[in-house]
Amino acid sequence: MKIKNPSLEKIAVKKEQYPHPNLSEIALAGRSNVGKSSLINSLVNRKNLARTSSKPGKTRTINFYNIDDKFRLVDLPGYGYAAVSKSEKDDWGQIIEGYLYDRENLKEVFLLVDIRHEPTDNDLMMYNWIKDMGFSGYVIATKLDKVGKSKLQQYIKVIAQKLGIEDRKKIIYYSAETKENRDYIYKLMSEILG
Ligand code: GTP
Ligand code: MG
Repeated sequence: MKIKNPSLEKIAVKKEQYPHPNLSEIALAGRSNVGKSSLINSLVNRKNLARTSSKPGKTRTINFYNIDDKFRLVDLPGYGYAAVSKSEKDDWGQIIEGYLYDRENLKEVFLLVDIRHEPTDNDLMMYNWIKDMGFSGYVIATKLDKVGKSKLQQYIKVIAQKLGIEDRKKIIYYSAETKENRDYIYKLMSEILG
């Protein structure tokens, strides 16, 4: 997969604002700060197309990235960020739910988790939700560069156990810093998009 011309096509919170469902979409879900926006930047080879921050809660809208007019990568707002009000949390839930439940051109949802931490109950809820909706249940374990190779399998095991994943191939480890496994994700996306 060679990406030549990625752009931020649309920022949305409600359905009327979504772009036309003429292109297939792959969405990225996960806790705030897990690296969703960084994954997009590294996939499209741009430093700042998707805005990132070391402070959680950066992306609070659904951001649709148009990839060469072939498909879209969809950056969902991160959940589980403690320092927001209850009403804001409800908003996020509705924004995410509104999109995931009713998007005919949505082909796959990747759940991102930080490789170093056991997934939270929110992650588990999100993951079960994704599977219940009939998606494959791929998990991208981010920030691979922060763990030593010798510990890798231990970390993957914790993630697999918490999320109830039997097929370890469903868990893809990744680093937006080193871009390790980027080709694997390109290949997976190509397969998903057919
Ligand atoms: P929200 O927009 O708040 O939902 O967060 P997000 O999931 O989009 O996270 P974002 O991409 O903004 O990354 C959060 C922080 O983690 C930033 O400081 C990134 O530089 C850092 N980060 C993301 N991916 C990696 C990675 O693979 N390795 C390392 N070392 N840092 C990463
Ligand atoms: Mg973000």
